[in-house]
Amino acid sequence: MSEAIEVYEVEDRTFPPDPAFVAQANTNDRSFYEEADADYEAFWARQARELLTWDTDFHTTLEWDLPFAQWFVGGQLNVTANCLDRHVEAGNGDKIAYLWEGEPGDTRTITYAELLTEVKKFANVLKGLGLQKGDIAAVYMPMILELPIAMLACARIGVAHSVIFGGFSADAIIDRCDDAEAKVIITADGGYRKGAASALKPTVDAALAAGAPSIQNVIVANRCDLNPDMVEGRDHWWHDLMAAASDDCPAEPMDAEQLLYILYTSGTTSKPKGIMHTTGGYLAQTAFTHKFVFDIKPETDIYWCAADIGWVTGHSYIVYAPLTNGVTSVMYEGTPDTPHKGRFWEIIEKYKITQLYTAPTAIRMFMKWGVNEPDKFDLSSLRVIGTVGEPINPEAWMWYHEHIGGGNTPIVDTWWQTETGGHMISPLPGVTETKPGSACHAIPGVFAELVDDDGNVVERGGGYLTIARPWPAMLRGIWGDPDRYHETYWSRYEGRYFAGDGAKLDDDGYLWLLGRVDDVMNVSGHRISTTEVESALVDHSAVAEAAVVGANDELTGQAIIGYVILRGGSEPSKELGDEIRAHVGEKLGKIARPKTVVIVPDLPKTRSGKIMRRLLRDVADGRQLGDTTTLADPSVVAEIAAGAAAGSDED
Ligand code: PRX
Repeated sequence: MSEAIEVYEVEDRTFPPDPAFVAQANTNDRSFYEEADADYEAFWARQARELLTWDTDFHTTLEWDLPFAQWFVGGQLNVTANCLDRHVEAGNGDKIAYLWEGEPGDTRTITYAELLTEVKKFANVLKGLGLQKGDIAAVYMPMILELPIAMLACARIGVAHSVIFGGFSADAIIDRCDDAEAKVIITADGGYRKGAASALKPTVDAALAAGAPSIQNVIVANRCDLNPDMVEGRDHWWHDLMAAASDDCPAEPMDAEQLLYILYTSGTTSKPKGIMHTTGGYLAQTAFTHKFVFDIKPETDIYWCAADIGWVTGHSYIVYAPLTNGVTSVMYEGTPDTPHKGRFWEIIEKYKITQLYTAPTAIRMFMKWGVNEPDKFDLSSLRVIGTVGEPINPEAWMWYHEHIGGGNTPIVDTWWQTETGGHMISPLPGVTETKPGSACHAIPGVFAELVDDDGNVVERGGGYLTIARPWPAMLRGIWGDPDRYHETYWSRYEGRYFAGDGAKLDDDGYLWLLGRVDDVMNVSGHRISTTEVESALVDHSAVAEAAVVGANDELTGQAIIGYVILRGGSEPSKELGDEIRAHVGEKLGKIARPKTVVIVPDLPKTRSGKIMRRLLRDVADGRQLGDTTTLADPSVVAEIAAGAAAGSDED
């Protein structure tokens, strides 16, 4: 078994669903599992028909030509008609779609009818700038309502969006716009982060000054009155374009396989992959999981997914699924500690939130801040609390359970990926007896199996996580690179999707996710490729060679540690190390900046010249590395040298 797969202690604690919860749950028995096990295509077909409104019914549920899937073939639907028009037509136009909370405390609400009008108008704005079905629009925005409006406007007219996380750098914008040949960037002057306005438009300007020639127009929403430079003929204010736009824009029926969006994610090479998601299957699975994993009651619930829309969690569970299911969502602009460390709990009390969906790294941070913060607020409205993004350690699970969930609120630990589009492994809150730290079981209609190095199915114990059959919200490919799609996901184990995660099945058949088994790090639930950071390190003029590892970190799960060899003529110093760290931050965005850069005279290599990352990881795990630069102290060198001398042939 891979060295990355280490096995957890046996966890004995179990938490059956509360009988009162079971009695009211959207699903509370094994019938979905039984139905899906008997005929999973029929199961998904039924969900797709019940949860979505189709202009034309599909004639074939699945066409599977490995690795290419088509779901709900022949069917036609419009995503925004499902998210908006049908709720308005059903008389729910006055229902609130988003309760938006700005970081400084300013608020805005938008009803389903108002959202529909804005979406139609913005769709006309895009059309007016020449965008057509099949084009791609880049979106680089803070967490403001214009962001879902922009995404939905694209979906209404068959333009695929490519949302670029607002923390990414100019280089990241260029790479993504070039790869997708995006025609427009939709952005904002800035957004509020940690108590101050943080500018975004200058990063777009820097990107466009250096590259991204496919971009013809930039649309700028005004959030912070930052008064950015506007380039005549290229840059347009959102409000000016909207003031002149018609709100007449009927929803055009789209093929079930119409490209809905591209979202870039890190792989094991330095080039991020443009993950492609399409219309019908994506919407069916996200709507299904949202309704049944979070036990959504649209009439009464106030749901909050505290992710950023720049990641897949926000795409699926802030925008598409909640709107499809017609629930009211809270959307929060800022950070959990601004203006105070009780901000999340204050928001829950204020809006009487019923579902909270957040990440283990946030929970560990809240633990550090102490129970005093949540204890100041009334959290009794919560009915289901969820986590996503990385394994949750049992201690954090128990803290969440006791201090946020009041000891009886079901926790749903949801495993999934950018590539899977929606939840894949998760408890169902009215059905599953949970164990702290386990994502429990694959959802109905998803077939997760562990395999060993040779691809044999593992019934108990550790293995590599694979998905044995296609699923509706699965990625349809990597933009522009069908070979890489096949190679990355479908070639390692025949007929199976390889997720890149290690996992364990315990004696009761519960799944325990154990983290990535490839060169992808998981820092605060964000995927970052070691190769990408290495490329950014060697891009600095003083760096000759670099190796990056993810070391264990109590708060962020993993922390990025970069080992660098300097070029001749460069003298090691703390200042230089800090400059190198900052350089990565500028190249890739702050989230990819190494926590520590260690300047070393040499890197441990195998006889065949491959860097021995395992040794570097051990070195990083074995010592307290500070938040800055560590010069190669003799013992680090000695350890590295000793390991190199041992000559292990790690690949
Ligand atoms: O390693 C797994 C981890 O996050 C990876 C997917 O990252 P990304 O595509 O950025 O999507 C994150 C949000 C869906 C997975 O390969 N991961 C995600 N959820 C969990 C998890 N690891 C353990 N438990 C989870 N619940």
